[in-house]
Amino acid sequence: MSGFSAHWLTLREPYDLNARNTTVIDTVAAALDRLSPVRIVDLACGTGSTMRALSPFLPARQSWKLIDNDLSLLARAAASPRAKQVIATTIPLDLHRDLEAALDGPIDLVATSALLDLVSEPWLDRLVVEVAARSIPFYAALSYDGRTKFTPPDPLDATIAAAVNLHQRTDKGFGPALGPAAAAFAIARFEALGYSVVHGSSDWEMGSDDFDIQTELLDGWASAANEVGAVSLADSTAWLTRRRGALAAGLASLSVGHIDFFAMPSATR
Ligand SMILES: C[S@@+](CC[C@H](N)C(=O)[O-])C[C@H]1O[C@@H](n2cnc3c(N)ncnc32)[C@H](O)[C@@H]1O
Repeated sequence: MSGFSAHWLTLREPYDLNARNTTVIDTVAAALDRLSPVRIVDLACGTGSTMRALSPFLPARQSWKLIDNDLSLLARAAASPRAKQVIATTIPLDLHRDLEAALDGPIDLVATSALLDLVSEPWLDRLVVEVAARSIPFYAALSYDGRTKFTPPDPLDATIAAAVNLHQRTDKGFGPALGPAAAAFAIARFEALGYSVVHGSSDWEMGSDDFDIQTELLDGWASAANEVGAVSLADSTAWLTRRRGALAAGLASLSVGHIDFFAMPSATR
């Protein structure tokens, strides 16, 4: 599992779509329903999954700026099918360095998904401050929050999950990552700056038929647990072998905790 590969983003998209919190989406939609066109910036858009997920809930005339630093993902995002009145412009940008450039110009919504858990506290603070300085509403989906539930249970599940959560806090290109703490941090910062925030869970739910994504996750987590040195190779290999066995036998399900939120400035612009 490479966190940013097109293969992985394509594999996870249907699970993301099912998981996205509908109360949060409804609140985003209600906040923007009088705008035409509505102008959205998607930070770290990948192949464009947030545009595909959110677009049907927004006014018909939409203008999206899709921002990422990966040209091949941006090419896929540009080719994403969309309704006639939805215009999308792709912008290559390193958000670690040039965040402020992404927020240039008139914007009705800053959106992002599966980004906040990758970034550091100083960068997330900078993002919140820059968004709040412009009084822009902010939607963030699918921030991993550290909860995992494996079925059937295994004695090493908790050890592996703790190691994975340690790995989540390593540097993913923005400095030491906030990992599972990211959404709570961002929500608290927006509230401190006068925003009202609606949030809710957006957990991945994988059943025994969801073989491919469970396999990718289990392999990735066994490697991550080794990388941080919290679990011996023998233990992580034994755990992975047992988990893969349960998956092959059609017995394994998995739930992975995420948080979605929408932050709305109290002052009207
Ligand atoms: C986990 S993916 C999420 C992609 C997409 N938002 C989604 O939900 O499918 C994280 C994204 O962050 C992008 N990214 C990572 N570091 C970045 C940076 N410094 N500047 C811009 N984008 C970056 C990656 O290229 C990738 O598309």
